[in-house]
Amino acid sequence: MKLAEKLEVLHSAEAIQKRVTELGAQIAHDYAGKDLVLVGVLKGAILFAADLCRAIDLPLAFDFIGLSSYGEATESSGVVKITSDLSRPIEGKHVLVIEDIIDTGLTMRYLLDNLATRHPASVKICSLLHKPSRARTRIPIEYLGFTVPDLFVVGYGLDAGEKYRNVPFIGVMKPS
Ligand code: IMP
Ligand code: MG
Repeated sequence: MKLAEKLEVLHSAEAIQKRVTELGAQIAHDYAGKDLVLVGVLKGAILFAADLCRAIDLPLAFDFIGLSSYGEATESSGVVKITSDLSRPIEGKHVLVIEDIIDTGLTMRYLLDNLATRHPASVKICSLLHKPSRARTRIPIEYLGFTVPDLFVVGYGLDAGEKYRNVPFIGVMKPS
């Protein structure tokens, strides 16, 4: 059985690219003349970051940070560990964090608090997806791809047990 046949399509590859183009244009407008660093959150945001950076017609730098949640696998505990840090300082830079999904918001809360200690000029968030029904802390999302219902979604970088990241669309597992 092909990978995609196990999934129900929520947002097609075409719909994602259209949204990415719109977000890129908006970001290029808002950050014109600023020293912009995109910070992609590993591993889920890499496909989104790779497409988004090509839609932003500005000189920019990009970096990545690896985060992992301690404790339970299916739900964020809020206790987060940096598994791979940024390669350069962000002091004085305008940071745009690129994330795959904001669910409870606990991972992003930790990241925002951590980045603030490094004295960037500003920090804003661009998230491909948001699951507002599960929010446990209010996270301001400046740039948002799509709002999703309270379902476990995979594809376009998002995984289930490390699988499905390479699916070109965002989908939901069909009941087996
Ligand atoms: P939060 O701390 O609850 O906001 O969790 C954020 C992280 O949990 C995301 O960066 C994802 O890695 C993961 N996650 C949350 N919901 C989903 C989902 O529906 N599919 C895949 N990963 C998810
Ligand atoms: Mg993630």
